[in-house]
Amino acid sequence: MGFNQEISEAAEVIKDAEKVTIISHIDADGITSEAIMRQAVSRCGIQINSVFVRQLEPMTMKYVPDDDSLKIFIDLGAGQQNLLEERGLLEKEVLIIDHHITQDTNTPYMQVNGLKYGYEKLSAAGTGYLVAKETDDYNTDLAKLAVIGNVGDMMAREHRGLIGPAREIVDDGVLCGNVEVVKDDLNCYGISTRPLHLCLSFSDDPFVSGITNNPQNAQKLIERDAGIDLRKRNGKWRVWEDLSSEERRAIIGRLALRLYDAGEPVERLKAEHYIFPDEKKYTPLRNASEFATMLNACGRWVKPKTGSSVCCGDRGDAYREAENMLRHHRSVIREMMEYILDTGVEELSHLQYLHIGDRFPDTIVGIGAGMALSKLNWKLPIMILCYLPDDPELVKISMRTNERMVSAGVDLQAALLEASEKVGGAGGGHKIAAGAYISRSAEEGFAESVNRILKEQSS
Ligand code: C5P
Ligand code: C5P
Repeated sequence: MGFNQEISEAAEVIKDAEKVTIISHIDADGITSEAIMRQAVSRCGIQINSVFVRQLEPMTMKYVPDDDSLKIFIDLGAGQQNLLEERGLLEKEVLIIDHHITQDTNTPYMQVNGLKYGYEKLSAAGTGYLVAKETDDYNTDLAKLAVIGNVGDMMAREHRGLIGPAREIVDDGVLCGNVEVVKDDLNCYGISTRPLHLCLSFSDDPFVSGITNNPQNAQKLIERDAGIDLRKRNGKWRVWEDLSSEERRAIIGRLALRLYDAGEPVERLKAEHYIFPDEKKYTPLRNASEFATMLNACGRWVKPKTGSSVCCGDRGDAYREAENMLRHHRSVIREMMEYILDTGVEELSHLQYLHIGDRFPDTIVGIGAGMALSKLNWKLPIMILCYLPDDPELVKISMRTNERMVSAGVDLQAALLEASEKVGGAGGGHKIAAGAYISRSAEEGFAESVNRILKEQSS
């Protein structure tokens, strides 16, 4: 069966359903996935209910209702089909829409997953959008949400823009009028809300020596070297989106020169941005990556439904709550990063790790791991272990690496899957980012065991 056939069969199954339950994940991709599917299904006139889980694992399976609805597992499920089978879910009541590596069982659950067809840069929201569009052409207004999900799951990072089917979805959004593409722009985060010098100094892809992590120097480069005002006439900070194309070129040119002088490659300096012209300027809703951060903030702090309401257009109470979540999220992430960097990681030959106990919630350790890695030795994948507030028996593991190490053969999904299975736990994810749950009794020696697997991968 081809990918398009999977998509059209899934659309048929949805249209034939009387009642649907969506089970989705609490990150930006999961929230946009749910918002896309919920709107598409209700537009078909079908009764719909949604639940969000931090991950499909034995503890959270209780949130999957025991009823006769069609259960759409989206942004999860591919790697946990054993749990669906153990629960006794039948083939006809399950549809999996996912982009994680599949772990098949004896029950051939219906699944739409681009990985099998080589689409590695298509998130669950992107895949869900393709199914939604197949149920009705009218659903192209949802392409914007798919762009947020794709960008939120880092699908644009390696190529500094979306590619393949995910890029075709961008074109749907452009045609629909709620997505705008800015090509050959600066590869940076915060183009709609961050003051220019902070936007530049926070950017570390590529790492520009003297500018990355140095707001004073970034300010000098913008004001003194490029002659560009940091503030507007009314005294407010300007943001990247305010700059004319000449001003952007002037800054990008100076950054390129610095990289060139340092003998560093310049090609990662430019990226494609996705702007939403229907959203207010200077808000985090205005571009895909900042919108995704806001959704991550909602989901990781256990308010995924708030994020979903924002996705579906709420700019009142839900949006105000999301703004508060974002502020809180930012400050705790910063705190966690400082904790990781101050405490220091333990280095093994092929891995660096740290146990943070119950200092920070399990739902954000993956994000902290990713951000800390950008300030640590990029050659060693990072592993953060933590305890779960609601389950004293379990340890949550989050791992992150980068594209360069993946190209060199590192596969965190395979490593965590093998190491956690050995101790009766469960793990999954992607080559570049993976997670697992193991029991506390298996904690000791776990990092060494993963280290051994990573060593084998590199040989
Ligand atoms: O849910 P899972 O796909 O839900 O994990 C998403 C996280 O994995 C992202 O927040 C991102 O940090 C990481 N990721 C990544 N690069 C990819 C895929 C995922 O960094 N290609
Ligand atoms: O939780 P974290 O952000 O570290 O998860 C990284 C990736 O690993 C995500 O894609 C998540 O869905 C996946 N994961 C998994 N099984 C787990 C934990 C995480 O597949 N037990």
